[in-house]
Amino acid sequence: MLIQLFDKSNEQYIIEAANLLASCFPHAYSDCAFEEIDRILDDERIAVMAVENGHLIGFAGAIPQYGVTGWELHPLVVNEAYRNKGIGTKLVFKLEEEVVARGGIVMYLGTDDEFGQTTLSGTDLFDNLFEKIQNIKNIGNHPYEFYQKIGYRIVGVIPDANGLGKPDIWMAKRLVRRNIE
Ligand SMILES: CC(C)(COP(=O)(O)OP(=O)(O)OC[C@H]1O[C@@H](n2cnc3c(N)ncnc32)[C@H](O)[C@@H]1OP(=O)(O)O)[C@@H](O)C(=O)NCCC(=O)NCCS
Repeated sequence: MLIQLFDKSNEQYIIEAANLLASCFPHAYSDCAFEEIDRILDDERIAVMAVENGHLIGFAGAIPQYGVTGWELHPLVVNEAYRNKGIGTKLVFKLEEEVVARGGIVMYLGTDDEFGQTTLSGTDLFDNLFEKIQNIKNIGNHPYEFYQKIGYRIVGVIPDANGLGKPDIWMAKRLVRRNIE
């Protein structure tokens, strides 16, 4: 399995990435996956991919949102048949390396809880927010725990971002050695 920068010249990888995006997030991309892949492959962004036997089996992207220092991780997808084999971790680590090489010091992401997968859903997050974040439980295989395992921390939420009781969970990771107090 290879992890490398996304080969934008290869049409087959683009088609496989669009199909993967649409199958993983049908509610968001079923009718606009190719347009989204176009944005993900924009020159100012970074995209990396995982390839097995000549086929794309996962990819990840990063967007410079605060000059070059703060980058948003979006998206991250691994083909269902290849999950839990460390590929998601390797994709994010490769992306982090590329972000640092371009001057990045923090990577952050929003991970939606639209389908009741954590205890942060179905509750009023304007009430006792920080206690609720502290006591978060994963009740439906939500990926926030994947991100925690590779060094990301919950730094906030957007309550009701996807509808009442359906928050977006914000996570971040410092990518460089800390030399501030
Ligand atoms: C989230 C995702 C990218 C993880 O990729 P992956 O290749 O399966 O992840 P890894 O194998 O590197 O997992 C690393 C660790 O995280 C854990 N993990 C992975 N997904 C998890 C989840 N949804 N919930 C809890 N733990 C999870 C793994 O069990 C593993 O734990 P271990 O180190 O104790 O063995 C993949 O499940 C995926 O594509 N999901 C659908 C799309 C998605 O949700 N993307 C993120 C949107 S913000």
